[in-house]
This record gives sequence, structure tokens and C-alpha cells, in this order.
Amino acid sequence: MALWDGRFSGGPAEEMQAFSESLSTDMHMWEEDIQGSIAHATMLAEVGILKSAECDAIIEGLNTVANELRDGWQPSIAEEDIHMAVESRLHELIGAQAGKLHTGRSRNDQVATDLRLWLRRRIDELDAALQELIGALLDKTQSDGKTLVPGFTHLQRGQPIWLGHQFLAHAWALSRDRERLADAKKRVNRSPLGAAAMAGTPHPIDRTRSAELLNFDGLVDNAMDAVSARDHLLETVSTCAILGSHLSRMAEELILWSTREFGWIRLSDDWSTGSSIMPQKRNPDAAELIRGKVGRINGALVSLLTLVKALPLAYNRDLQEDRPPLFEAMFITTACTKVMRGCIESMQVNAGPDLHGDFALATELADYLVAKEVPFRQAHHIVGNLVKQCEDNGVNLAALSAEDLNTADPHFGADALDWLEPSAAAERRTSSGGTAWSEIEKQLSALRQSLGKT
Ligand code: ARG
Repeated sequence: MALWDGRFSGGPAEEMQAFSESLSTDMHMWEEDIQGSIAHATMLAEVGILKSAECDAIIEGLNTVANELRDGWQPSIAEEDIHMAVESRLHELIGAQAGKLHTGRSRNDQVATDLRLWLRRRIDELDAALQELIGALLDKTQSDGKTLVPGFTHLQRGQPIWLGHQFLAHAWALSRDRERLADAKKRVNRSPLGAAAMAGTPHPIDRTRSAELLNFDGLVDNAMDAVSARDHLLETVSTCAILGSHLSRMAEELILWSTREFGWIRLSDDWSTGSSIMPQKRNPDAAELIRGKVGRINGALVSLLTLVKALPLAYNRDLQEDRPPLFEAMFITTACTKVMRGCIESMQVNAGPDLHGDFALATELADYLVAKEVPFRQAHHIVGNLVKQCEDNGVNLAALSAEDLNTADPHFGADALDWLEPSAAAERRTSSGGTAWSEIEKQLSALRQSLGKT
């Protein structure tokens, strides 16, 4: 018999039960469901709605149900959802007084409460994983960041940089993801409990007290908003999707850099797999799976946005469909973040390509001329001609003599060739945020500080 069977003469069809149950997904949040009920019962006793003996029996019963669930009890899907399953079991354990627990609340605020408690915990877990990933990038920068590589634009060689410069570019993006998560958490961490169905309740409940017992920062002020709002889910999953875009960009680089063609890094055995047919292969499957799984995070965001689009207030059963995409997004994002950390911290960084004479140094010659007060546009043109000349002769910049340069433009002095030293090119970029190692060190300490480490 369902807990709402009073006005029914038959139960839902078996197919309807299977179609409408949310128990299988709700099982992820049974702990939060019990936690919310204990807080609600405690508050009901404090305001005098429950006698203290009733409250004690309810809390004891709820703890028993929690133990049973922990021991693997699987409620029947005939219970529809975790809220009904817990309450029915409580009835079995302590009898009719269990029915008083539902005073001043409904499943609508219950589900909203459980979700917020669940999400708050998962946000913290994701943030911890992110901190570890950022930490791994900082450690790699410190240990292997002084490896000279070409920085790319359009995936074409641009200018020499220290690899650490690129690691830190990713670290900064990830720290903004942490800020976005913390910001979303502010709006997640408000209590809808006691909103009841949507209109509030005539009973003298104390919503502030139950919010306090659950460590919420405050209330969702409007009871209708409390049961209808899902924007905090959208916000958190958008953050996951943005973080996913960062992880997938990193993954793409790991895949590229570990090819024979690049050879900049070697992913560790822990995070690589072999081929069933080609014995020589070391495949970057971890990074590829991150790249692939991020698609599912984006899918989850689109599902949630579509779910709430034009949905009338207040609760509609559609809202039950919020859990699969939300849970999936949080689980996948956290797993991808952890796996990325594993890849980064265990990868071997090899020497970068030889950049002597590489056209990636062309900007150095232009900058040399600018230092001699040649307008940049003119300098760009002069060096462009030099590059063309080299290309026509099938050589690179290393083939140019001081005289060649001086013939191209009289501002080129004997010291111009020194500017073509690749590591000096990186070290010259001392402007704030540039690739010079001194700038990288400043960023390292700022980022370490943001992780609470010095
Ligand atoms: N299983 C539903 C859900 O998880 C519970 C809410 C039920 N409320 C209702 N008015 N039918 O969203």
C-alpha cells in the first residue's frame, strides 16, 4: 500500500511503477534523506509538535533504517522513491507515530533538501580533486617546467616558451573553476526544508532551526521557489561543463605531446594501455577517455536546461529527471579531474625540440629592431622578407650571418645573432605574465597561496 493511497481504490500498474520510480537513482542520496529527516524531527520536537518520546523513537528508527541501508538493504521500487521507502520502513519499525514525521514538510521540499545536501558534499569533493590537480601542475612546473618548447597559435609554432608557462595557463583556468564552484555552492547551501508542498504550513515549525541543524547558510526564502528552483543545479553543472572544457583541452595536448611526432612527454604505464594487435603501442587512453567523457557532462547540462525550460511552478514530476544528469555530471567531472591529476603527476617530460634557427625565433629579430627604435610594423616586414629568403633557399634562421642581417636592415648590429638563442628568447619575456622563468616563479607562489600552501 502506498503512503498516499487514501483516495485510490487501486495501485499503479506494474509498468507505471517501473516507469515512475526514482528509487534506483535516489539510492545515491539515502544518507542525505535520513540526515534531513533527523533534523526535521529534532526541530519538530523543539517547537513542541512532537513529544520528546516520539522524536526519540523516530530518530532511533531512522538510525536503524540507515544501518539497514548501509548493510545493503534494497527497498522495493513499489515504494517509488527513497523518501517513501525510508518512511514506510520507519512505520514498520515504530508504528503509527512514524506518520508524525511528515508534519510541515512534503516530498517536494524533502527532495529539494536531499539534493542540496548531496550536491554540497559533491562540490567539496570536486574542489578537493581540483586542488590536487592544480597542485600536480605546480609540482610539474617546478620539476620539469624549464623545458623549452614552441608555444603555438593555430597549432603552428609561434614563439619559444618554457613548458611550465603552459602548465600554469591550465592551472589558472582550473583555479577559476574553483571560484565558480565556490560561488555556486553559496546558492546551493540554502535550506528548502519546511517549504512543504509549496505554500508553507499552518504548523509552528522553525525552518531556521532545521537549516541550522543541517549546516545550511540560510533559507530559500520563498516556499514556492524552494521546491521549484533548480538553477543551483544548472549553475553547478555549467561549472562542470566549463571545467570539462579545460580538462579536454589538457587531454588533447597530452595526446598530441605523447605522439612520436611530438615526443615531448611519455605518459606513465599507470595511465596508458597497449594494443591487442600492435605490440609497440602505448595508447593515451586515459586522456582520450577524459576528452570523450566530457561530452556526457555537456549532455547533462543540456538535459537539465531542457528539463526546466517553460516548466510551470511549482513542483512537477518532470523534476524527478534532474537526478540522473546531475549525478552523472558530478561523478564524471570528479573522476576526470582525478584521472588528469594521475596523468600529470606521473608523466615523464622529455627534452623539447631543437629550436636553434627555428622560424619560431623570427619575432626576436623584429623585437631587436624595435629595440633600435624601428617601428614594429616595419620591423615585422623586414623580418618577414628574411624568412621568405630563408625559405626560398631551403634553410632556417641559423643560416643567416650578421652581414645578411645588416644587409636586410642597417639597424642590425653584430649582437643581433645573440637574440636568436632560443632560451634567451623565452627569458627576455619578463613582462607581467610572460614566459620568463622569474614570472613563472611569481605565478607559482600566487597559485600555491590560493591552495593554502606556501
Ligand atoms: N519521486 C519524486 C521526486 O523524486 C518525489 C516527489 C514527489 N512529489 C509529488 N508531488 N509527486 O521528484
